[in-house]
Order: sequence, then C-alpha cells, then structure tokens
Amino acid sequence: MSKPRILVARAVFPETIERLKQHFEVESNQADEAWTPAQLIEKLRDKDGAFTTGSVRIDAELLAACPKLKICANMAVGYNNFDLEAMTARGVLGTNTPDVLTDTTADFGFALLMATARRITESEIYLREGQWTKWSYDMFAGSDIHGATLGILGMGRIGQGIAKRGAHGFGMNVIYHNRSRLDAATEAECKARYVSKEELLKTADHLVLVLPYSAASHHAIGAAELAQMKSTATLVNIARGGIVDEDALVQALRDKRIAAAGLDVFEGEPKVNPGLLTVPNVVLTPHIASASVPTRKAMANLAADNLIEFFSKGQGLTPLNPQVLKA
Ligand code: DGY
Repeated sequence: MSKPRILVARAVFPETIERLKQHFEVESNQADEAWTPAQLIEKLRDKDGAFTTGSVRIDAELLAACPKLKICANMAVGYNNFDLEAMTARGVLGTNTPDVLTDTTADFGFALLMATARRITESEIYLREGQWTKWSYDMFAGSDIHGATLGILGMGRIGQGIAKRGAHGFGMNVIYHNRSRLDAATEAECKARYVSKEELLKTADHLVLVLPYSAASHHAIGAAELAQMKSTATLVNIARGGIVDEDALVQALRDKRIAAAGLDVFEGEPKVNPGLLTVPNVVLTPHIASASVPTRKAMANLAADNLIEFFSKGQGLTPLNPQVLKA
C-alpha cells in the first residue's frame, strides 16, 4: 500500500523529517522558502496531510483547492492561522501542540517582564554604544517585580504558569481576567484573584497578555485600555500581535502614558511596526517565547505524532475539532 503524502511547509529539525519519512511520502521545505498562498496550494493539492507552523495560513480558498487534505498538524499551541470553521466544514482535522511548551513559554514571559521592568535591553545598548562614562543614582531605574501587582489577561495554561512564577517566586499580588473564571482550587494554586478587565487595567503594575487571538480579541488593548493603565505600568505581550493596537502603543510609550512594553509578537510579523523601533522603552524579541531546544523538539514531535496517529488509527492526540473524527 502506498504511504500517505504529506507536506512539511516550513523548515524543521532534520530528525523530524527522517521520522516522518518512515510513515509518509514527504515533501518538505527545508530551504524555508517563503511560498505565496498560490504556491502553497500547488504544493498541497496532491497531499493528504500538512505539517504547519503559525505562519502557514490554512483558509477556505486553500481547502477548496486541496480536496485530498485530511489533517493539518500545527507546530504551535496557537492556531489562528487555521480557519477552523472552514476545516471542520470540510472534515479536515486540525491539531496543535499544547502542554509541551507551557513552562518554557511562561519562563520567557517572566524573562520579558523582568527585562522590560528593569530596562535591561535599553541599558545594554547604552553600555555597548560606549555611552557609560559614570554611574548615577537614577541610571536606568525601573520598577520592581517582587511585591508588585501582576495582572494577567488570559488565564489558560501559560497564564497560570506565569501567575505561579509571580506569586510563589516573587511574592507578587496576582490578579487576572479571563473569559471564564477559574475554579477555586486552581485560583488557590496560582494565588490569583479574578477581577474585571477594567480593574485589571487600572490596578496592574505589570500586565501580561496571554489570551488567544481571534476576532473577539483583536486590539483588546488599544488607546482606551492604555489610557486606563498606571503611568508606571509595563505591558508584556507573548500572545499574538493583533491583540495590541501597535500605533496606539507607540503613542502611549512616546507620551510615557505607560512606562514600558515587552513584545515577542507583532501584528505584521516578521515585519515590525517602524514606530516601535523608534521608542527606547520597549523590549522587542522575534516570537521566541517557546524557543528552547527541548521544547521546540517536543513541539515538532507532537505535531509529527498527530500525523502518525491520524493516518494509523484515525485519531488525533491533540485535536482542535474532534467532531470531524469518526467515532
Ligand atoms: C505558539 O505555540 O503558539 C507559539 O506562539 C509559537 O508559534
């Protein structure tokens, strides 16, 4: 029997490709070429499955042109690159990579928060540029992490990981807002208190965004929300760029409406809003929150396992739309 045909749409660990080749006929993009949507359709037209990352858009047009496609396995926990409704309508399974990246991403969220609040990037640039000629009492004085109020918008697995780091490691007072309130046991474990979005914005010394991106969360933080925050506050976004209105953020940073921001995600990534590059009080990283070697390998393995499980047993390990699976 011939093997199912799959496309690995972005470059990935060579060992992942080797593993996939044991089960599938694989076409891969190890050169990491940037394919247009039309080129992606051409590559996927004769494929049964796809190994994707967050930059590979699977939409209704592509699905209509690729009727053989049965599964798209995303190497990411976020899946806003999938039109899941269109996939479900066509019976195409979507899978993601939850859990394996939770702690690594929460670690990074905390690192970005600390770098932002304590002005680490800004001060390193100053030193590297040879501007440091004498010490002074207020040089790069930032805000404290320990004992401060940590606000978390979006309290899924990663949000909870950040809450635990803040509460247990740094004695922070943790507040959160989420679509639905956590159960009492999880709130106690995270030492986190549920508040309205308004209270979160007004009270947080540091606000971390960890909510999924959708039409409902588009620009959840815009000029009106930034205006409610403390002028000493820091804002950290490790979720998706579209959650923040970047033009409004640039203005708020210029006006010192808030003290600083740390951003790992951008609305038009890999392009960065040029305004962000002109303000000093922002720490910018290229979407690397889950980027530790063991975690990226675990993500690649889970995406591959989903493909293997699907084609061997008709199941997915971490399905996003399990209703398309046969009972
Ligand atoms: C994720 O897993 O969603 C990360 O943001 C990487 O895309």
